[in-house]
Amino acid sequence: MTKKERVAEYSRKIEDIYLQQTSKSREIIEDAKRFVPDGDMRISIWFEPYPAVMAKGDGCHLYDEDGNDYLDFSNNWTSMVLGNNNPRVVEAICKQAPMGSAMAAPPKRAYEWAQILCERIPSMERVRFCTSGTEAVMFAIRAARAFTGKDKILKMEGNYHGSYDPMEMTVGWRRLPPGLPKSAELDMLVVPFNDKIAAEKMIKENKDELAAVIVEGVMGAAGMIPPEDDYLKFLEETAHANDVLLILDEVISFRLSTGGTQEIYGVKPDLTVLGKAIGGGLPSGAFGGRKEVMAVYSPRHKHPAHHAGTFVATPIAVAASVAGLKELTAEAIDRINGLGWSLAKGLQSVLDELKIKAQIKGYGSLQQIHFSPEPISTASTAFFTIDRDILRLFHLSLMNKGIFIPNRGFFAVSTPMGEAEINRAVEASAETLTELKPLIEEIAPQLIG
Ligand SMILES: Cc1ncc(COP(=O)(O)O)c(C=O)c1O
Repeated sequence: MTKKERVAEYSRKIEDIYLQQTSKSREIIEDAKRFVPDGDMRISIWFEPYPAVMAKGDGCHLYDEDGNDYLDFSNNWTSMVLGNNNPRVVEAICKQAPMGSAMAAPPKRAYEWAQILCERIPSMERVRFCTSGTEAVMFAIRAARAFTGKDKILKMEGNYHGSYDPMEMTVGWRRLPPGLPKSAELDMLVVPFNDKIAAEKMIKENKDELAAVIVEGVMGAAGMIPPEDDYLKFLEETAHANDVLLILDEVISFRLSTGGTQEIYGVKPDLTVLGKAIGGGLPSGAFGGRKEVMAVYSPRHKHPAHHAGTFVATPIAVAASVAGLKELTAEAIDRINGLGWSLAKGLQSVLDELKIKAQIKGYGSLQQIHFSPEPISTASTAFFTIDRDILRLFHLSLMNKGIFIPNRGFFAVSTPMGEAEINRAVEASAETLTELKPLIEEIAPQLIG
Protein backbone atom coordinates (compact mmCIF):
# COMPACT_ATOMS: atom_id res chain seq x y z
CA MET A 1 0.00 0.00 0.00
CA THR A 2 1.39 3.47 -0.85
CA LYS A 3 1.59 6.16 1.81
CA LYS A 4 -1.29 7.96 0.09
CA GLU A 5 -3.52 4.89 0.16
CA ARG A 6 -2.65 4.15 3.79
CA VAL A 7 -3.45 7.73 4.82
CA ALA A 8 -6.72 7.61 2.86
CA GLU A 9 -7.68 4.33 4.56
CA TYR A 10 -6.92 5.72 8.01
CA SER A 11 -8.60 9.07 7.26
CA ARG A 12 -11.85 7.30 6.40
CA LYS A 13 -12.17 6.03 9.97
CA ILE A 14 -11.77 9.51 11.41
CA GLU A 15 -13.86 11.16 8.71
CA ASP A 16 -16.71 8.67 9.24
CA ILE A 17 -17.03 9.78 12.85
CA TYR A 18 -16.88 13.44 11.81
CA LEU A 19 -19.53 12.92 9.10
CA GLN A 20 -21.84 11.19 11.54
CA GLN A 21 -21.43 13.87 14.20
CA THR A 22 -21.86 16.83 11.86
CA SER A 23 -24.57 15.77 9.40
CA LYS A 24 -26.45 19.08 9.68
CA SER A 25 -23.28 21.04 8.87
CA ARG A 26 -22.80 18.87 5.81
CA GLU A 27 -26.35 19.55 4.62
CA ILE A 28 -25.93 23.30 5.11
CA ILE A 29 -22.60 23.42 3.26
CA GLU A 30 -23.92 21.21 0.45
CA ASP A 31 -26.94 23.46 0.00
CA ALA A 32 -24.81 26.62 0.22
CA LYS A 33 -22.84 25.53 -2.85
CA ARG A 34 -25.73 26.95 -4.88
CA PHE A 35 -24.61 30.46 -3.85
CA VAL A 36 -21.10 30.25 -2.39
CA PRO A 37 -18.21 28.47 -4.18
CA ASP A 38 -18.07 25.03 -2.54
CA GLY A 39 -19.67 26.57 0.54
CA ASP A 40 -16.43 28.23 1.69
CA MET A 41 -16.32 31.90 2.57
CA ARG A 42 -12.97 32.22 4.33
CA ILE A 43 -10.10 30.04 3.18
CA SER A 44 -8.34 30.04 6.54
CA ILE A 45 -11.27 28.25 8.19
CA TRP A 46 -11.86 25.67 5.47
CA PHE A 47 -10.83 22.05 5.89
CA GLU A 48 -11.89 18.76 4.34
CA PRO A 49 -14.42 17.23 4.33
CA TYR A 50 -16.06 20.56 5.40
CA PRO A 51 -15.95 22.79 8.47
CA ALA A 52 -18.61 22.35 11.16
CA VAL A 53 -21.16 25.18 10.95
CA MET A 54 -21.33 26.92 14.30
CA ALA A 55 -24.69 27.89 15.76
CA LYS A 56 -23.43 29.75 18.81
CA GLY A 57 -20.55 30.53 21.09
CA ASP A 58 -20.69 30.74 24.87
CA GLY A 59 -17.55 31.61 26.83
CA CYS A 60 -14.90 29.17 25.63
CA HIS A 61 -17.46 26.78 24.11
CA LEU A 62 -18.77 26.63 20.56
CA TYR A 63 -21.88 24.67 19.60
CA ASP A 64 -22.40 23.50 16.04
CA GLU A 65 -25.69 23.01 14.19
CA ASP A 66 -25.81 19.36 15.35
CA GLY A 67 -25.45 20.49 18.96
CA ASN A 68 -21.84 19.25 19.37
CA ASP A 69 -20.02 21.12 22.09
CA TYR A 70 -16.42 22.16 21.35
CA LEU A 71 -13.81 23.80 23.55
CA ASP A 72 -12.76 26.72 21.42
CA PHE A 73 -8.97 26.84 21.13
CA SER A 74 -9.15 28.75 17.83
CA ASN A 75 -10.52 31.94 19.47
CA ASN A 76 -11.50 33.00 15.94
CA TRP A 77 -7.81 32.95 14.99
CA THR A 78 -6.74 34.44 18.35
CA SER A 79 -9.10 37.42 18.30
CA MET A 80 -11.66 36.13 20.86
CA VAL A 81 -9.24 36.38 23.74
CA LEU A 82 -12.17 36.95 26.10
CA GLY A 83 -14.12 34.05 24.60
CA ASN A 84 -17.62 34.63 23.25
CA ASN A 85 -20.32 36.76 24.86
CA ASN A 86 -18.16 38.34 27.57
CA PRO A 87 -20.82 40.00 29.79
CA ARG A 88 -19.12 43.44 29.88
CA VAL A 89 -18.71 43.46 26.10
CA VAL A 90 -22.30 42.31 25.52
CA GLU A 91 -23.52 45.03 27.88
CA ALA A 92 -21.52 47.70 26.02
CA ILE A 93 -22.88 46.54 22.65
CA CYS A 94 -26.47 46.41 23.92
CA LYS A 95 -26.19 49.91 25.38
CA GLN A 96 -24.83 51.32 22.15
CA ALA A 97 -27.03 49.48 19.64
CA PRO A 98 -30.23 51.51 20.25
CA MET A 99 -28.20 54.72 19.90
CA GLY A 100 -27.03 54.05 16.38
CA SER A 101 -24.50 51.88 14.63
CA ALA A 102 -22.72 54.10 12.13
CA MET A 103 -22.63 57.78 11.40
CA ALA A 104 -20.34 60.04 9.40
CA ALA A 105 -18.91 61.74 12.47
CA PRO A 106 -16.41 60.61 15.10
CA PRO A 107 -17.98 58.97 18.17
CA LYS A 108 -16.58 60.40 21.41
CA ARG A 109 -15.74 56.96 22.74
CA ALA A 110 -13.31 56.36 19.84
CA TYR A 111 -10.99 58.91 21.45
CA GLU A 112 -11.12 56.89 24.67
CA TRP A 113 -10.20 53.80 22.61
CA ALA A 114 -7.25 55.76 21.17
CA GLN A 115 -6.15 56.83 24.64
CA ILE A 116 -6.28 53.27 26.00
CA LEU A 117 -4.15 51.96 23.14
CA CYS A 118 -1.61 54.81 23.29
CA GLU A 119 -1.27 54.37 27.05
CA ARG A 120 -0.75 50.62 26.70
CA ILE A 121 1.77 50.97 23.88
CA PRO A 122 4.08 53.93 24.61
CA SER A 123 5.71 53.84 21.14
CA MET A 124 2.26 54.60 19.74
CA GLU A 125 2.03 58.34 20.27
CA ARG A 126 -0.79 58.72 17.75
CA VAL A 127 -3.24 56.15 16.41
CA ARG A 128 -5.93 55.82 13.74
CA PHE A 129 -8.55 53.15 13.24
CA CYS A 130 -9.75 50.87 10.47
CA THR A 131 -11.78 47.67 10.23
CA SER A 132 -9.21 44.89 9.88
CA GLY A 133 -5.58 43.97 10.38
CA THR A 134 -5.12 43.90 6.61
CA GLU A 135 -6.15 47.53 6.31
CA ALA A 136 -4.01 48.50 9.29
CA VAL A 137 -0.96 47.00 7.57
CA MET A 138 -1.81 48.77 4.34
CA PHE A 139 -2.12 52.16 6.02
CA ALA A 140 1.01 51.69 8.14
CA ILE A 141 2.99 50.95 5.01
CA ARG A 142 1.48 53.99 3.33
CA ALA A 143 2.52 56.14 6.30
CA ALA A 144 6.08 54.79 6.13
CA ARG A 145 6.31 55.54 2.43
CA ALA A 146 4.78 58.99 2.77
CA PHE A 147 7.10 59.88 5.65
CA THR A 148 10.36 58.58 4.16
CA GLY A 149 9.65 59.32 0.50
CA LYS A 150 10.95 55.79 -0.24
CA ASP A 151 9.02 52.83 -1.71
CA LYS A 152 10.66 49.53 -0.81
CA ILE A 153 9.44 47.36 2.05
CA LEU A 154 11.33 44.47 3.63
CA LYS A 155 9.22 41.64 5.01
CA MET A 156 10.20 38.40 6.67
CA GLU A 157 9.62 35.06 5.03
CA GLY A 158 6.49 33.40 6.40
CA ASN A 159 5.25 36.51 8.16
CA TYR A 160 1.54 36.87 7.49
CA HIS A 161 0.24 40.43 7.37
CA GLY A 162 -3.23 39.88 5.88
CA SER A 163 -4.57 39.94 2.35
CA TYR A 164 -2.94 43.12 0.98
CA ASP A 165 -1.37 42.01 -2.34
CA PRO A 166 2.34 42.66 -1.63
CA MET A 167 2.06 41.07 1.82
CA GLU A 168 0.89 37.75 0.36
CA MET A 169 4.46 36.88 -0.59
CA THR A 170 6.04 33.86 1.13
CA VAL A 171 3.32 32.81 3.49
CA GLY A 172 3.54 29.08 3.02
CA TRP A 173 3.10 28.65 -0.70
CA ARG A 174 5.89 27.82 -3.10
CA ARG A 175 4.49 30.21 -5.71
CA LEU A 176 2.10 33.12 -5.45
CA PRO A 177 -1.60 32.24 -5.63
CA PRO A 178 -3.39 33.37 -8.78
CA GLY A 179 -4.96 36.80 -8.94
CA LEU A 180 -1.97 38.72 -7.67
CA PRO A 181 -0.41 41.01 -10.25
CA LYS A 182 3.33 40.70 -10.93
CA SER A 183 3.59 44.23 -9.58
CA ALA A 184 2.71 42.86 -6.12
CA GLU A 185 6.34 41.82 -5.81
CA LEU A 186 7.64 45.15 -7.01
CA ASP A 187 9.38 47.09 -4.25
CA MET A 188 9.19 44.08 -1.93
CA LEU A 189 12.25 42.48 -0.35
CA VAL A 190 12.15 39.27 1.70
CA VAL A 191 14.59 37.63 4.11
CA PRO A 192 14.13 34.69 6.51
CA PHE A 193 12.69 35.40 9.96
CA ASN A 194 15.14 35.18 12.87
CA ASP A 195 18.10 35.62 10.48
CA LYS A 196 19.96 38.74 11.62
CA ILE A 197 22.75 38.53 9.07
CA ALA A 198 20.38 38.37 6.09
CA ALA A 199 18.30 41.27 7.45
CA GLU A 200 21.31 43.49 8.09
CA LYS A 201 22.74 42.87 4.62
CA MET A 202 19.40 43.58 2.91
CA ILE A 203 18.75 46.74 4.93
CA LYS A 204 22.23 48.16 4.31
CA GLU A 205 22.21 47.36 0.60
CA ASN A 206 18.80 48.97 0.06
CA LYS A 207 18.84 51.76 2.61
CA ASP A 208 18.36 54.55 0.06
CA GLU A 209 15.17 53.04 -1.30
CA LEU A 210 13.91 51.17 1.75
CA ALA A 211 11.00 52.84 3.59
CA ALA A 212 10.39 50.21 6.24
CA VAL A 213 10.97 46.77 7.65
CA ILE A 214 7.75 45.03 8.68
CA VAL A 215 7.84 42.10 11.08
CA GLU A 216 5.41 40.16 13.29
CA GLY A 217 5.87 40.20 17.07
CA VAL A 218 5.48 36.43 17.02
CA MET A 219 5.34 34.67 13.68
CA GLY A 220 1.67 33.60 13.80
CA ALA A 221 0.51 31.93 10.60
CA ALA A 222 3.82 30.11 10.30
CA GLY A 223 3.30 28.50 13.68
CA MET A 224 3.54 30.80 16.73
CA ILE A 225 7.30 31.08 16.37
CA PRO A 226 8.78 33.69 18.71
CA PRO A 227 11.68 35.94 17.75
CA GLU A 228 14.99 34.58 19.03
CA ASP A 229 18.10 36.18 20.45
CA ASP A 230 16.88 39.80 20.59
CA TYR A 231 15.90 39.64 16.93
CA LEU A 232 13.30 42.43 17.14
CA LYS A 233 15.66 44.77 18.98
CA PHE A 234 18.32 44.03 16.37
CA LEU A 235 15.88 44.92 13.58
CA GLU A 236 14.97 48.16 15.33
CA GLU A 237 18.62 49.20 15.73
CA THR A 238 19.66 48.15 12.25
CA ALA A 239 16.67 49.85 10.63
CA HIS A 240 17.27 53.08 12.53
CA ALA A 241 21.01 53.08 11.84
CA ASN A 242 20.08 53.07 8.15
CA ASP A 243 17.24 55.64 8.21
CA VAL A 244 14.62 52.96 7.74
CA LEU A 245 11.41 52.66 9.79
CA LEU A 246 10.37 49.59 11.76
CA ILE A 247 6.72 48.49 11.57
CA LEU A 248 5.77 45.93 14.20
CA ASP A 249 2.71 43.87 13.31
CA GLU A 250 1.08 43.04 16.64
CA VAL A 251 -2.25 41.89 15.19
CA ILE A 252 -1.72 38.48 16.80
CA SER A 253 0.94 39.24 19.40
CA PHE A 254 -0.79 42.17 21.15
CA ARG A 255 -2.67 39.74 23.43
CA LEU A 256 0.60 38.43 24.93
CA SER A 257 1.11 41.41 27.24
CA THR A 258 -0.69 44.70 27.90
CA GLY A 259 1.75 46.41 25.55
CA GLY A 260 2.25 43.56 23.06
CA THR A 261 5.60 41.95 22.26
CA GLN A 262 7.28 45.37 22.09
CA GLU A 263 6.84 45.49 25.85
CA ILE A 264 8.11 41.92 26.29
CA TYR A 265 11.22 42.39 24.14
CA GLY A 266 11.87 46.09 24.88
CA VAL A 267 11.43 47.26 21.30
CA LYS A 268 10.34 50.69 20.10
CA PRO A 269 8.94 50.47 16.58
CA ASP A 270 8.12 53.57 14.56
CA LEU A 271 4.72 52.14 13.70
CA THR A 272 2.56 49.41 15.23
CA VAL A 273 -0.22 47.50 13.55
CA LEU A 274 -3.13 46.12 15.59
CA GLY A 275 -6.31 44.13 14.98
CA LYS A 276 -8.01 40.98 16.27
CA ALA A 277 -7.92 41.11 20.12
CA ILE A 278 -8.21 44.91 20.33
CA GLY A 279 -11.79 44.77 19.03
CA GLY A 280 -13.72 43.03 21.82
CA GLY A 281 -14.69 40.47 19.18
CA LEU A 282 -15.95 42.94 16.58
CA PRO A 283 -14.17 43.80 13.31
CA SER A 284 -11.49 46.37 13.98
CA GLY A 285 -7.94 47.43 13.27
CA ALA A 286 -5.61 50.22 14.30
CA PHE A 287 -2.25 51.58 13.25
CA GLY A 288 -0.15 54.14 15.00
CA GLY A 289 3.28 55.20 16.07
CA ARG A 290 5.62 58.17 16.29
CA LYS A 291 3.69 61.43 16.06
CA GLU A 292 5.89 62.84 13.26
CA VAL A 293 5.20 59.73 11.17
CA MET A 294 1.46 59.64 11.88
CA ALA A 295 1.29 63.37 11.03
CA VAL A 296 1.31 62.34 7.36
CA TYR A 297 -2.39 61.60 7.89
CA SER A 298 -3.22 64.91 9.53
CA PRO A 299 -5.86 66.76 7.50
CA ARG A 300 -3.79 69.89 8.23
CA HIS A 301 -0.63 68.39 6.72
CA LYS A 302 0.40 70.33 3.62
CA HIS A 303 -0.08 67.22 1.47
CA PRO A 304 -1.77 64.54 3.59
CA ALA A 305 -1.64 60.82 2.89
CA HIS A 306 -5.07 59.33 2.28
CA HIS A 307 -6.87 57.25 4.86
CA ALA A 308 -10.65 56.89 4.83
CA GLY A 309 -13.18 54.09 5.31
CA THR A 310 -16.96 54.08 5.62
CA PHE A 311 -16.88 51.87 8.71
CA VAL A 312 -13.88 53.33 10.54
CA ALA A 313 -14.51 53.38 14.32
CA THR A 314 -18.24 52.76 14.20
CA PRO A 315 -19.91 53.21 17.60
CA ILE A 316 -20.83 49.57 18.26
CA ALA A 317 -17.35 48.32 17.36
CA VAL A 318 -15.81 51.08 19.47
CA ALA A 319 -18.05 50.22 22.45
CA ALA A 320 -17.07 46.54 22.21
CA SER A 321 -13.38 47.40 21.80
CA VAL A 322 -13.22 49.74 24.79
CA ALA A 323 -15.14 47.29 27.00
CA GLY A 324 -12.98 44.40 25.77
CA LEU A 325 -9.69 46.18 26.42
CA LYS A 326 -10.84 47.04 29.94
CA GLU A 327 -11.42 43.33 30.55
CA LEU A 328 -8.06 42.36 29.07
CA THR A 329 -6.08 43.43 32.12
CA ALA A 330 -2.47 42.58 32.97
CA GLU A 331 -3.77 39.97 35.46
CA ALA A 332 -6.03 38.36 32.85
CA ILE A 333 -3.15 38.24 30.36
CA ASP A 334 -0.75 36.76 32.92
CA ARG A 335 -3.29 34.12 33.82
CA ILE A 336 -3.92 32.93 30.25
CA ASN A 337 -0.21 33.07 29.46
CA GLY A 338 0.36 30.79 32.46
CA LEU A 339 -2.34 28.42 31.20
CA GLY A 340 -0.73 28.50 27.74
CA TRP A 341 2.66 27.57 29.17
CA SER A 342 1.15 24.64 31.10
CA LEU A 343 -0.65 23.51 27.95
CA ALA A 344 2.68 23.58 26.09
CA LYS A 345 4.34 21.59 28.87
CA GLY A 346 1.49 19.06 28.95
CA LEU A 347 1.51 18.56 25.18
CA GLN A 348 5.30 18.28 25.05
CA SER A 349 5.29 15.60 27.78
CA VAL A 350 2.69 13.62 25.86
CA LEU A 351 4.93 13.77 22.78
CA ASP A 352 7.99 12.81 24.79
CA GLU A 353 6.25 9.89 26.50
CA LEU A 354 5.02 8.57 23.16
CA LYS A 355 8.47 9.21 21.65
CA ILE A 356 6.93 11.28 18.85
CA LYS A 357 9.41 13.83 17.57
CA ALA A 358 7.02 16.73 17.19
CA GLN A 359 7.46 19.98 19.06
CA ILE A 360 5.45 22.75 20.64
CA LYS A 361 6.39 26.32 19.77
CA GLY A 362 4.78 29.46 21.07
CA TYR A 363 4.60 32.14 23.70
CA GLY A 364 2.14 32.21 26.62
CA SER A 365 -1.47 31.92 25.48
CA LEU A 366 -0.49 31.01 21.90
CA GLN A 367 1.02 27.56 21.30
CA GLN A 368 1.31 25.33 18.24
CA ILE A 369 2.19 21.71 17.55
CA HIS A 370 4.67 21.09 14.71
CA PHE A 371 4.92 17.55 13.39
CA SER A 372 8.54 17.94 12.39
CA PRO A 373 11.78 16.50 13.77
CA GLU A 374 13.65 19.66 12.65
CA PRO A 375 14.18 22.59 15.03
CA ILE A 376 11.50 25.13 14.09
CA SER A 377 12.58 28.76 14.02
CA THR A 378 12.00 29.88 10.44
CA ALA A 379 9.07 29.73 8.06
CA SER A 380 10.71 27.23 5.74
CA THR A 381 11.16 24.72 8.56
CA ALA A 382 7.62 25.36 9.79
CA PHE A 383 5.91 25.16 6.41
CA PHE A 384 8.00 22.61 4.56
CA THR A 385 9.29 20.05 7.08
CA ILE A 386 6.05 19.18 8.86
CA ASP A 387 4.00 16.09 8.04
CA ARG A 388 0.71 17.54 6.79
CA ASP A 389 -1.13 14.21 6.72
CA ILE A 390 -0.50 13.66 10.41
CA LEU A 391 -1.46 17.27 11.19
CA ARG A 392 -4.72 16.86 9.28
CA LEU A 393 -5.62 13.67 11.12
CA PHE A 394 -4.64 15.16 14.49
CA HIS A 395 -6.90 18.15 13.81
CA LEU A 396 -9.94 16.13 12.68
CA SER A 397 -9.57 13.66 15.57
CA LEU A 398 -9.54 16.53 18.04
CA MET A 399 -12.68 17.95 16.42
CA ASN A 400 -14.32 14.54 16.94
CA LYS A 401 -13.37 14.74 20.61
CA GLY A 402 -14.79 18.25 21.03
CA ILE A 403 -11.53 20.19 20.90
CA PHE A 404 -11.76 22.94 18.30
CA ILE A 405 -8.34 23.96 17.03
CA PRO A 406 -7.54 25.48 13.64
CA ASN A 407 -6.32 22.98 11.06
CA ARG A 408 -2.89 24.65 11.30
CA GLY A 409 -2.52 23.10 14.75
CA PHE A 410 -2.43 26.03 17.12
CA PHE A 411 -4.06 26.37 20.54
CA ALA A 412 -5.11 29.85 21.67
CA VAL A 413 -6.13 30.14 25.32
CA SER A 414 -8.94 32.53 26.25
CA THR A 415 -9.89 34.12 29.58
CA PRO A 416 -12.96 31.92 30.28
CA MET A 417 -10.62 28.92 30.32
CA GLY A 418 -9.06 27.40 33.41
CA GLU A 419 -6.97 24.37 34.29
CA ALA A 420 -9.87 22.00 33.56
CA GLU A 421 -9.97 23.10 29.91
CA ILE A 422 -6.20 22.82 29.56
CA ASN A 423 -6.30 19.31 31.04
CA ARG A 424 -9.07 18.32 28.65
CA ALA A 425 -7.04 19.52 25.67
CA VAL A 426 -3.95 17.63 26.84
CA GLU A 427 -5.95 14.45 27.52
CA ALA A 428 -7.70 14.58 24.13
CA SER A 429 -4.34 15.18 22.42
CA ALA A 430 -2.78 12.26 24.32
CA GLU A 431 -5.63 9.97 23.25
CA THR A 432 -5.39 11.14 19.65
CA LEU A 433 -1.62 10.80 19.44
CA THR A 434 -1.77 7.32 21.01
CA GLU A 435 -4.27 6.30 18.34
CA LEU A 436 -2.17 7.88 15.60
CA LYS A 437 1.17 6.46 16.72
CA PRO A 438 1.01 3.18 14.74
CA LEU A 439 0.24 5.18 11.60
CA ILE A 440 3.07 7.63 12.32
CA GLU A 441 5.46 4.67 12.74
CA GLU A 442 4.34 3.38 9.38
CA ILE A 443 4.17 6.50 7.22
CA ALA A 444 6.36 9.06 9.04
CA PRO A 445 9.11 7.09 10.82
CA GLN A 446 11.26 10.22 10.95
CA LEU A 447 8.85 11.43 13.66
CA ILE A 448 9.55 8.48 15.96
CA GLY A 449 12.50 8.17 18.28
C1 LIG B 1 -0.01 39.17 12.03
C2 LIG B 1 -1.23 39.49 11.21
N1 LIG B 1 -1.32 40.66 10.59
C3 LIG B 1 -2.40 41.02 9.88
C4 LIG B 1 -3.47 40.16 9.75
C5 LIG B 1 -4.67 40.56 8.96
O1 LIG B 1 -5.74 40.78 9.81
P1 LIG B 1 -7.26 40.66 9.27
O2 LIG B 1 -7.52 39.20 9.07
O3 LIG B 1 -8.07 41.28 10.35
O4 LIG B 1 -7.32 41.43 8.01
C6 LIG B 1 -3.42 38.91 10.38
C7 LIG B 1 -4.55 37.97 10.26
O5 LIG B 1 -4.50 36.82 10.63
C8 LIG B 1 -2.27 38.56 11.12
O6 LIG B 1 -2.17 37.36 11.71
